[in-house]
Amino acid sequence: MSAITAQALPNIAFIKYWGNRDEKLRLPVNGSISMNLDGLFTRTTVSFQPSLPFDELVINGHDVAGPGLDRVSAILDLVRGMAKIEERAEVVSENNFPSGAGIASSASAFAALALAASKAAGLELSEREFSRLARRGSGSAARSVPAGFVEWQAGTSDEDSFAFSIAPPEHWALMDCIAVISAAHKKTGSTEGHALAGTSPLQAARVGDAPRRLDICRRAILERDFEALASVVELDSDMMHAVMMTSSPALHYWQSASLAVMQAARQWRGDGIPACYTVDAGANVHVICPEKEAKEIATRLRLIQGVTDVLTARVGGPAKFLEENLGD
Ligand code: PMV
Repeated sequence: MSAITAQALPNIAFIKYWGNRDEKLRLPVNGSISMNLDGLFTRTTVSFQPSLPFDELVINGHDVAGPGLDRVSAILDLVRGMAKIEERAEVVSENNFPSGAGIASSASAFAALALAASKAAGLELSEREFSRLARRGSGSAARSVPAGFVEWQAGTSDEDSFAFSIAPPEHWALMDCIAVISAAHKKTGSTEGHALAGTSPLQAARVGDAPRRLDICRRAILERDFEALASVVELDSDMMHAVMMTSSPALHYWQSASLAVMQAARQWRGDGIPACYTVDAGANVHVICPEKEAKEIATRLRLIQGVTDVLTARVGGPAKFLEENLGD
């Protein structure tokens, strides 16, 4: 069987996913909306080989065993089940963004794996099926499959919990300026974090209000209304962090520099510069702005103490197979 290579981009959620109804199937408690991040990518090559006794995983040139490999093997098992094959696979994956920069790679990684593994196994899946398969590896990976601005509908079962594009990348020239802030402690990973979300007394309120925030966000994107987008994106990020900070045990991801960036973004917006912040399960702050403001914002972000780097990303396309497969 041939080796297949696929590429997927990370995404930043405007309306966040935090907490599962079903941990094993990764069915979320609420829907979410994100934008894909162009220029940052994971490329993954998968080949099923009769001679291999076990699945093998190499990430950025390093052999990976233990829980990292188990999580990949679980996706390969789903693919083997669908394709009715037994062969073990070699999986070789590269990220073009620095692993120490705190940019989560699980979304791009599992989206690229879903495409490459299923095609390498001889399956022809639809975008919806790729999204469902990617979801099983990492919930947010479901959103890295379709293009541009993407909504993941929570759904009620494995079948209807998938993501779809609500607008293509060229719909709105937004940019994500990622202020990289080094975290002093190793953070609690999102898989563990999702399991704690229900311990916060605030989670029910966050989830109950999610359909309203999703509606506002979806409409703001469709109407290219930056002010409306900015308010709901900041509200949603703050609500998720309120849940994180009030779960048992409590999860505090912000560093003092994170707060400094968040306050600066609000200040800039007050001064008439369109910018808003959103923070995932880490210390980095994503500052979203129209493309024409990005240069100025990146310059300003670099001046904030504790910001070690700024990465910028336009709105990106879908997960895809790479040309090099075509000759196979
Ligand atoms: O896909 P996971 O399990 O890494 O969860 C992602 C969680 C957040 O990044 C905090 C929010 C989101 O919707 O991307």
